[in-house]
Amino acid sequence: MAVLVTGGSGYIGSHTCVELLNAGYDIVVVDNLHNSRVESLRRVREITGRAFKFYEVDLLDQEELDKVFLYNHIEAVIHFAGLKAVGESVHLPLWYYHNNITGTLNLCKVMQKYGVKRMVFSSSATVYGTSGQVPIPEDAPLQATNPYGRTKLMIEEILRDLHTSDPLWSIAILRYFNPIGSHESGRIGEDPNGIPSNLMPYITQVAVGRLKELQVFGSDYPTMDGTGVRDYIHAVDLAKGHLKALDKVMAESGVDAYNLGTGRGHSVLELVAAFERVTGRSVPYKFAARRAGDIAVCYADVSKAKRELGWAAEKGIEDMCIDGWRWQSSNPNGYQQEIEIAVK
Ligand code: NAD
Ligand code: WQD
Repeated sequence: MAVLVTGGSGYIGSHTCVELLNAGYDIVVVDNLHNSRVESLRRVREITGRAFKFYEVDLLDQEELDKVFLYNHIEAVIHFAGLKAVGESVHLPLWYYHNNITGTLNLCKVMQKYGVKRMVFSSSATVYGTSGQVPIPEDAPLQATNPYGRTKLMIEEILRDLHTSDPLWSIAILRYFNPIGSHESGRIGEDPNGIPSNLMPYITQVAVGRLKELQVFGSDYPTMDGTGVRDYIHAVDLAKGHLKALDKVMAESGVDAYNLGTGRGHSVLELVAAFERVTGRSVPYKFAARRAGDIAVCYADVSKAKRELGWAAEKGIEDMCIDGWRWQSSNPNGYQQEIEIAVK
């Protein structure tokens, strides 16, 4: 019996694979490697000392996906696979809708065919839109402001409809806040293609000398220092939340959404200061205009996850900065570096 991890070679997927393997689960990974490298999975194996199967399969290819279920005894699915860049989704909405929604429909159809009805799904705090209510509980009004966010909202609805049609389905929808940081080994981490659009990889790439300076988007928000406030959560805490959600879907049927965050907000400047303090590196920055679509403050009400999953984040922003820096400083070019060395 194995847990299928879609998108398992990506940032959060690879961290969750480590936690699953360390907890004794057998896993099968599916990824089309669109936004990740197989090197991450080699390192998951290195960290855990455990072997597992990897299929380079696109969720859009239902026939190939079917074979994964045919040849393996899958008991539950953790579904990370999807495109996630907000800006890109505005320019390429059809690609985002097709990849994220058709990919999920294919997965659900194959799961249904093989009688696999337990799923943990990666949603996002982006489904809360721009209301600005804090801390945000799971029953806050939902509203997406870009195609990426709408794919998450639509998939949440699809999964609820699936459960209505067959109450034996058991689905945990996890709404992540702002995942940052890396496994303490420094061997796996976030490796964005091109210039990062998210704050933490931008900071680490400035600190490592790949980028000149950080632009801080907005200095006049109604926050303690005028910069945007977010609920940053360590990738390892987040990964552990998936194991708790897996326990829940294995134990009982239903469909429920859970916020995964720390419940605390930190400003851009606080994160920069914490990073400089714990790494000893300086992060030059300049203020720039607010980024379109950004809100001032966003952090989670995490009481439901604590109450119903028995999960709470343990790591603070200093751990996130230390671990994020360990990954970036020992892999200045991400996973690419090792591949280049191997070719020489
Ligand atoms: P990631 O891009 O590192 O990982 C996603 C993986 O899915 C990649 O390895 C990619 O190659 C794969 N993939 C994409 N489309 C696929 C398809 N059609 N078939 C097979 N594989 C496919 O992203 P991540 O940061 O690890 O995010 C994982 C999930 O969590 C995503 O669904 C994302 O939307 C969601 N999420 C991420 C964040 C964040 O800030 N990182 C926040 C909230 C939600
Ligand atoms: C954080 C703060 C920026 C970059 C995004 C997605 C969301 C979710 C998580 C997937 C904000 C500021 C950023 C920079 C900056 N992903 N910033 N300079 O926007 O909260 O959330 O990632 O589901 O859907 O929208 O995260 O890391 O981009 O920004 O000043 O170069 O850092 O304005 O205040 P965000 P982020």
